[in-house]
Amino acid sequence: MAGKGFTVNKDWDNPKEHSMPAEARVPAEMRLGPVVVAPATVLAPMAGVTDTVFRRFIRHASLFSTGSAASPQNAQSGCGLLMTEFTSADGLSRMRETKRRRYLTFYDDEHPIGAQLFGANAATLADAARIVQESGFDLVDLNLGCPAKRVVGSNGGSGLLRDLPRIGEIFRAVRKAVTIPFTVKFRMGWSRSDIVCVDLARIAEAEGLDGLALHARTREQGYSGQAQWEWIAAVKQAVKIPVIGNGDITTPEAAVAMVSMTGCDGVMVGRAAPSNPWIFRQIAQYTATGRYDRPTVEDRYRMIRAYFQMLLDEAEATKDLPRDARMGETSGKMKQFATWFTHGVVGGAKLRSAIYHVRTGAEVLEQVDEFFTAQLASGVEPVASPEDETAAEFPEALQVCD
Ligand SMILES: Cc1cc2nc3c(=O)[nH]c(=O)nc-3n(C[C@H](O)[C@H](O)[C@H](O)COP(=O)(O)O)c2cc1C
Repeated sequence: MAGKGFTVNKDWDNPKEHSMPAEARVPAEMRLGPVVVAPATVLAPMAGVTDTVFRRFIRHASLFSTGSAASPQNAQSGCGLLMTEFTSADGLSRMRETKRRRYLTFYDDEHPIGAQLFGANAATLADAARIVQESGFDLVDLNLGCPAKRVVGSNGGSGLLRDLPRIGEIFRAVRKAVTIPFTVKFRMGWSRSDIVCVDLARIAEAEGLDGLALHARTREQGYSGQAQWEWIAAVKQAVKIPVIGNGDITTPEAAVAMVSMTGCDGVMVGRAAPSNPWIFRQIAQYTATGRYDRPTVEDRYRMIRAYFQMLLDEAEATKDLPRDARMGETSGKMKQFATWFTHGVVGGAKLRSAIYHVRTGAEVLEQVDEFFTAQLASGVEPVASPEDETAAEFPEALQVCD
């Protein structure tokens, strides 16, 4: 499937010792209005991925402690802010209460958490933002990056990048509607010949937004090529509100490099998180100590079992809801995650192909158990083969939005 979907390079399994200059760190905190994001790292919104189970999983996977006094009590999350999947403002204002639960459910341990909306109509977005505020979210975010035809076709997502006056109108309406912090996530522009990110950032600041996140690619680029971090630097220089950099952070080294290259106030990690749920913790550890730990086979096994258990618990907790209000099919989510998660694991390619052919959650579990039990019995921390190291791919079906 080369050339299809997204790829994530897997450098985190080969951590390097670094001595880091003091100025090259991911900041310990940033403030989006009154919301403290500590450390200044954000889980990117990802449709089909960042539901409540995944978000809590990341929050807990990123628990990090330093020093001899380290204990679960003084451990901190390495991920400072969680974001929901994008949610249609149109849909939200029309949805039944039960269906809203699917999109807007979160648990206490997810704070601080932001909800992301997309849409093209200022009044509808303002209504939806009110719903987000009433639901208890810490902030509301507007999506101006989604490249999907379905969204762009109705002028949502990156479609709006061609109409800055309309964006100004939307900013004004949403700002007026809520008191919680309001942020925007956007791409550089529609195309290379139409880069608007600096102007857009200035409008956001003038309209009273509390921060912004730039995925440094154009709509036309999709996910191809490299993110152009120099535009994050340009935006940072243009405004005083916090700027979060996004695009191609696959390792702690890359997170630190982005901060030192652009001066951004925080970093946002997307595709690397499902295949390396430890990335936030590794960034925190790297910032604190100049090095970071590499997960063992046992860590990986424990992690995947924990995630599966969380999926099953959520399915149980929502079993009384109508089907369209539940989070999604558990066995599908298990398959999806097992596939991402076993990149870089010895024999992972074989496990992925076995999982591809099974149907139920129980069968996925069986394959995963068998695989890791054999790995643990072998007693060695194996080195992955090039085949196992094939970059994690996100199927095209999931190329929905940003
Ligand atoms: C499967 C998938 C779904 C996404 N969904 C959203 C979304 O709902 N909202 C959004 O703003 N960005 C979305 N994005 C884009 C990410 O938030 C992020 O901007 C992009 O992946 C670049 O960051 P990365 O290089 O760290 O992955 C999505 C990306 C992926 C891979």
